[in-house]
Amino acid sequence: MFRSSSSSTWSPRLVVGLAVTAVLLPAPLTASDPDPSLGLPPIVANIEPGDPSLQIALGRKLFMDPQLAEDGTMACGTCHIPEHGFALNGPAVAFGRGGRSLRRNTPTILNAALATSQFVDGRMKTLEEQVWGPLLAVEEAWNPTVQDVVGRLQGRSDYREAFRAAFQGRPVSQRLIGAALAAYERSIAVGGSRFDLWKYAGDSTALNDDERAGFDVFRASGCGGCHTVRDDYAAFTDNTFRNTGIEWARAHGRLGARKKAPDHGRFEVTARESDRHAFRVPSLRNVALTAPYMHDGSLATLEEVVDWYDGGGGGDPERDRALKPLGLDDTAKRQLVVFLRTLTSGEVERLTREARASAGAFRERKL
Ligand code: HEC
Ligand code: HEC
Repeated sequence: MFRSSSSSTWSPRLVVGLAVTAVLLPAPLTASDPDPSLGLPPIVANIEPGDPSLQIALGRKLFMDPQLAEDGTMACGTCHIPEHGFALNGPAVAFGRGGRSLRRNTPTILNAALATSQFVDGRMKTLEEQVWGPLLAVEEAWNPTVQDVVGRLQGRSDYREAFRAAFQGRPVSQRLIGAALAAYERSIAVGGSRFDLWKYAGDSTALNDDERAGFDVFRASGCGGCHTVRDDYAAFTDNTFRNTGIEWARAHGRLGARKKAPDHGRFEVTARESDRHAFRVPSLRNVALTAPYMHDGSLATLEEVVDWYDGGGGGDPERDRALKPLGLDDTAKRQLVVFLRTLTSGEVERLTREARASAGAFRERKL
């Protein structure tokens, strides 16, 4: 159960037979041929028996297929746009059916497998489970029931065949739709960024002086207290829920005039007062691709994010105690931003091409 160590088209090699819980371990490191998993934490997956690469291909196809929506107009990839780092650049919050604004920013799916819970409030545990959130949400894909989705896919010969081939002859089901999409989502968790080459493959030339200085600023500013970097890998998140003061600032008119329903974050799941306005710490991998930032997209650029932290996270008296004014000068701020830009995986272009090709191939095969 190791990720293949050299090719750029790796897929997890898994023991097949019974459903197994597999840990996909990072491969050995080589500086000359960056491995897509270089620098990633082990990813724990509950694997369905079958052919992993066919499961990933099927999941990719489902991800890009608007037929998953009841009215055939909205795919996962309509919001998590491959060309936008699998997020949505521009609008602060997502749009649902009929252009209705949703409450939250569209996060990237590139890092979803690095999270130990799903959604910014952690209301779902696994990727398999998360899939049914948008598929059944009235304002997203709007399927009245799970059976509507299963029935629609079962009614198409291409999907019937693809499910059988990927899952040892088993037919389309709720469980396998979740498994295929989750297999795809795990396959697009990629490392191998210039930071990874520098830190984990010993390539001292992969970062320039400013970028290395930016990593020093990152550490000295306590960013790693939540966006964790370990000696052997970096998820850039500790998967906890923290209050960085954004909701308070909005309520007090400090983040522009855009009206928005209050968002209580983790509190909405736990009803614990200490969780009010706390949101899951996001991974910072590929963060240069996924503007705007924070759960409500209220900060437009990485420069604005750095200014936010430099100011100590707004005036919220309840904000996380780790956030204090940093007093960074312009050089340190610029270096911090250029460091964050080194976290983009070299694999993203390939993943984007593959996702788009999958959508195209699908149209040709429409029944
Ligand atoms: C209408 C736009 C839209 C569509 C369609 C959509 N999503 Fe999302 N997705 C979002 C938004 C907005 C969030 C953040 C919501 C939250 O955290 O409460 C999100 C969150 C997620 C997350 C959690 C990521 C994280 O870091 O917590 C995953 C995984 C995900 N979506 C996968 C999917 C899949 C798979 C599909 C298709 C079945 C899909 N999405 C369809 C907008 C969309
Ligand atoms: C107390 C924990 C904590 C510390 C310390 C912290 N962050 Fe964060 N960071 C978060 C949380 C939580 C969010 C998400 C907030 C939200 O969604 O509203 C976040 C969001 C971000 C984002 C936006 C990511 C996205 O995809 O929207 C960036 C960039 C970021 N942090 C960088 C930094 C930097 C740089 C530092 C150090 C100056 C830092 N963080 C320190 C917890 C922390």
